[in-house]
Amino acid sequence: MDRIIIKGGKPLYGGICISGAKNAALTLLPCALLTDDPLTLRNLPRLADVDSFGHLLNQLGVSTTIEGARPDEFGRVMTLRASNIASTVAPYDIVRKMRASILVLGPLLARAGQATVSLPGGCAIGMRPIDLHLKALEALGAEIEITAGYVKATAPKGGLVGGTISFPQVSVGATENALMAAVLAKGTTIIENAAREPEITDLAKCLIAMGASIEGLRTDTLTVRGKSKLHGATYAVMPDRIEAGSYACAALITGGSLELMGARKETMPSILSGLVEAGAIIEDVEGGIKVSANGGLKPLSLSTAPYPAFPTDMQAQFMAMLALANGTSLLTETIFENRYMHVPELARMGAEIEVKGRTAVVRGVDKLHGAQVMATDLRASMSLIIAGLAAEGETEVGRVYHLDRGYERLEEKLQAVGADIERQSDG
Ligand code: UD1
Repeated sequence: MDRIIIKGGKPLYGGICISGAKNAALTLLPCALLTDDPLTLRNLPRLADVDSFGHLLNQLGVSTTIEGARPDEFGRVMTLRASNIASTVAPYDIVRKMRASILVLGPLLARAGQATVSLPGGCAIGMRPIDLHLKALEALGAEIEITAGYVKATAPKGGLVGGTISFPQVSVGATENALMAAVLAKGTTIIENAAREPEITDLAKCLIAMGASIEGLRTDTLTVRGKSKLHGATYAVMPDRIEAGSYACAALITGGSLELMGARKETMPSILSGLVEAGAIIEDVEGGIKVSANGGLKPLSLSTAPYPAFPTDMQAQFMAMLALANGTSLLTETIFENRYMHVPELARMGAEIEVKGRTAVVRGVDKLHGAQVMATDLRASMSLIIAGLAAEGETEVGRVYHLDRGYERLEEKLQAVGADIERQSDG
């Protein structure tokens, strides 16, 4: 199993190219199921989760080909074609490893009239139910049956029918499934209390490029006029705001300055205001933003909530950074009940963090020290990397496969800006 070794204490300086967003890529890939024409996705990040999603789509009958990117492009280009849907089943083995597999439910149901998808079950960060996904599809006429750990969804004889979906609580995944189902439903669908994450807007823009009619982008009410058919398109995945925010934390904690090339300021309002409150100087540079430390880190209070509020996917990285702030910070997690798995690992490096219910009290310390630590989930792993970059001595992060799910070429990008970081493999 691979591990990452960091010798901390080096300020990071230079430029990092931000990859295509994992969370956008994983909802754009299943759009291929909605048409028999080719869908070409550009700027796809090279990530284990993208590969796994490709394999799942292959099992459903989608052909995938990878082309070289243009010299001015960073990511991969993949063309997907679902000429025929060969299977409508997403098996447990795949769904269990990658929760995003649930996102084939809406498009399979819309295109093929049925879908059987394994229940994802809980995961390291919480229970993560899918009831909102299922209620949304029921509102479009689907019949849902749950047997032997599988959800079987069946559309009415003539296909899904538009309706009003009113979410009692904001869900990114359920909004995505609802949107992908509604574009091929008969008539108009209104999605109320929809998630407004930039990745949802990216999905809507890709669907519009494929011929869908969607109004209300960036708002919490989406109006979809169903089409009988969608066509192929070429679409570039948005840059990853969470990757950009993670490297910004790395710049600040090491007292350095990084240009985040490709980062889109307008997709990361609360991340940037949190960084500024912690003491960062943020400047616009051509093609991106520059994040620089300006003296010591200041403590702050943050609460995670749906976009445009502070993202749960940045909580762990901010916590690592604030472990070295000059004072006490309060971080409250409102999205997931168990997203503090990084706390005991950060404590092994000298951080002083106490969890009281949903709130973590982070008392800033003068220094962190290197230690052997274990990654527990994707963003938690990144928090350990960030802490390791600033810690005195050597940090060894185990279970690196979590990082490979969501950070493209992490060591390469960090080495290029001055970090002493390498991957070791047991062979
Ligand atoms: C969530 C995050 C997203 C993040 C992703 C991976 C939010 C709103 N969503 O998206 O930013 O990128 O995790 O970390 O911040 N829920 C239900 N029933 C459902 C679906 C969700 O009760 O059917 C609950 C969840 O348990 C959670 C909340 O609703 O408490 C939001 O979940 P949701 O947005 O659906 O989760 P993801 O799509 O995984």
